[in-house]
Amino acid sequence: MRWLITGGCGFLGTSVIKELAKDKENSFRVLDNLTVGTRKDLAGAIDFDEIDHSIEIPSLHKGECQLIIGDIRDSFLTNTACKNIDAIIHFAANTGVPNSVEDPRLDMECNVIGTFNMLEAARLHNVKRFVFASSGAPAGEVEPPIHEELPPHPVSPYGASKLAGEGYCSSYHKTFGIDTIALRFGNVYGPGSKHKSSVVAKFISLAMTGKRVEIYGDGSQTRDFIYIDDLVDAVIKAGTIEGIGGETFQIATARETTLNELMDILKSALKKHQIELDIKYGEKRLGDVMRNFSDTSKARDLLQWQINSTLNNGIEQTINYFKKL
Ligand SMILES: NC(=O)c1ccc[n+]([C@@H]2O[C@H](COP(=O)([O-])OP(=O)(O)OC[C@H]3O[C@@H](n4cnc5c(N)ncnc54)[C@H](O)[C@@H]3O)[C@@H](O)[C@H]2O)c1
Repeated sequence: MRWLITGGCGFLGTSVIKELAKDKENSFRVLDNLTVGTRKDLAGAIDFDEIDHSIEIPSLHKGECQLIIGDIRDSFLTNTACKNIDAIIHFAANTGVPNSVEDPRLDMECNVIGTFNMLEAARLHNVKRFVFASSGAPAGEVEPPIHEELPPHPVSPYGASKLAGEGYCSSYHKTFGIDTIALRFGNVYGPGSKHKSSVVAKFISLAMTGKRVEIYGDGSQTRDFIYIDDLVDAVIKAGTIEGIGGETFQIATARETTLNELMDILKSALKKHQIELDIKYGEKRLGDVMRNFSDTSKARDLLQWQINSTLNNGIEQTINYFKKL
C-alpha cells in the first residue's frame, strides 16, 4: 500500500512507519512541518528522500519513503501530498491540552482546518482510507469508562478540536464514502517519546537529569496509559481491516491508573538504575479531567485488537530507551 503519514516525523508516526516498513510492499509519503519531529527522527525509522513540492511529486515505488516538509494548514500542499495514495494516517496536530489552552486559535487551525484539508484532499484524490488520531479529550468530564457512545463534553480546546475532526471524519464517510476511522488514544508512552511532555516521558527525563517532577493536583487523577507497540498494532489494523469505515474506537488499556500508582511504578523501575524520583505536588491545571480510562471492547470485537504489554514492562522499556539517548 502507498501510505501518506501526516506528522510522520513524530512519536507515533515514526513508530508506525517502522512497523509498516517491515513489509517491503509498503511505501510512504510523510507530510510534516518539523515543528516537533525531525529529519533525524524519521531517519531512525526508515531511509527517505526529501521531496521538493514546488515541482511535480514523483510517484512512490515499493519500499520507498518520501518526506515533504510542509504544513497541513496549506490546502494546496495537502492536495499535492495526497496524489496516488491508498491510505492516510493523519497524525499531524497541535498535540495536548496545555498547548491548546495557551493558544486555542493555533490549536483550532491545525486540528480543525488541518484535518478538514486532509479530508478534502483525500476526497479530491479518491483516497479510500483515512485514519484519524483522536484522543480521550473529546469525551471530556464524563463518568468513565469512556466508550464510543457517550455524549462528548470536551473540557479543553484540544478536546473540542479533536471532536471537530471526528465529526468531519464521520461526515466524509457518510457523504463521500471515504473509509474514515477515528482512534481515540489513551496516554501513549514508550520508546520514541523523548520530546513528549506527557507524564511518563517528562518524568523519566527529568528524573534522569536529577530534576524534581511536579504533579498537578494530589495525584489521585487517573489516566489510561498505553504502550506504543499496542498502539501501533491498533493503528495498522485500523488502516487495513475492511468494513469499519465511519467508526470511532477507544484505543487504550481499559485500566485506570492514578498518577500516584504510576509514580510508585516509576520510582521502583528508576531505582534499579540508581535514579531517584523526587516528586512535588502543585496546583491542578486548567482543562485537565480528573478521571480517564476507556472501555475498549469495540476495538477488541471489530479490530480483533488486544493489549499485549503491561505497565511495569512498558515503563522498563521506556527507561531503557531514555538511558540509550
Ligand atoms: N502521544 C499521545 O499520547 C497521544 C494521545 C492522544 C492522541 N494523540 C494524537 O496522536 C497524534 C500524534 O501524536 P504524537 O505523540 O506522535 O505527536 P508528536 O508531536 O510527536 O508528532 C506530531 C508531528 O506532527 C508534526 N506537525 C505538527 N503540526 C503540524 C502541522 N500543522 N503541519 C504538519 N505537521 C505538523 C510535528 O512536527 C510532529 O512531527 C496527534 O494527532 C495527537 O493529538 C497522541
